Amino acid sequence: MTPSRALVLGILALTTSLSPCGGEFNVKADHVGAYGIIVYQSYGPNGQYTMEFDGDELFYVDSDKKETVWRIPEFGQLASFDPQGGLQQIAVAKFNLDILTKRSNSTPTTNDIPEVTVFAKAPVLLGQPNTLICFVDKIFPPVVNITWLKNSKSVTETVYETSFITSHDYSFHKMSYLTFIPTDDDVYDCKVEHWGLEEPMLQHWEPEVPAPMSELTETVVCALGLSMGIVGIVVGTIFIIQGLRSGGPSRHPGPL
Ligand SMILES: *[C@@H]1O[C@H](CO)[C@@H](O)[C@H](O)[C@H]1NC(C)=O
Repeated sequence: MTPSRALVLGILALTTSLSPCGGEFNVKADHVGAYGIIVYQSYGPNGQYTMEFDGDELFYVDSDKKETVWRIPEFGQLASFDPQGGLQQIAVAKFNLDILTKRSNSTPTTNDIPEVTVFAKAPVLLGQPNTLICFVDKIFPPVVNITWLKNSKSVTETVYETSFITSHDYSFHKMSYLTFIPTDDDVYDCKVEHWGLEEPMLQHWEPEVPAPMSELTETVVCALGLSMGIVGIVVGTIFIIQGLRSGGPSRHPGPL
């Protein structure tokens, strides 16, 4: 562990505090809205105020950006939220976290190991615009870098990232989206940096172009199986006939 990282962990005392002011409401029996989730951490420092519905982000206010970021721009045309409201809540969370940090004698938190999955949004067709989704789960503490590599080179355009979305175990998940056009020879990696990882994790993705041999192989396997089955039936029939011919009289010896 490098000294700077050790220092960071020292400062990271009780990184995350979920505010008691927020709440979970059952809008309907089968929907859950989680409103006013506040995460504040001394690393950075950084705070995030989020509204979620059924585990999806509606919008968030970030202490760095100081603006309301709607998950889908159209949401912002239907409703509005003053970012000051979120920033005030973040300030309250900071105040509470400072108290808890002192009470715990600045005990650093433990890092979870994030899980990374990469998949395409739509079935992959070469030349057809698509979106790659990098789903990073089990993020704790919520400090992470998610970046994309195309043919081992960093890509920053056409990338969108969600805020930290809460999971039931008090860890977080986050998604990063890369819009792209699949081609035969472009390969992609989602790169995740987190203190729970010894070194950055690269989750590889490349289009699964069906191997040209596969259909031929299938036909060969099918033909082989079928012929072996027929051979089996023929051989079996011969054995049965032979058995009936030779075994018949000896098993039932007649009186003559
Ligand atoms: C994220 O990237 C920044 C800038 O490169 C770096 O300083 C920081 O340590 C990285 N964070 C993690 C969790 O690795």
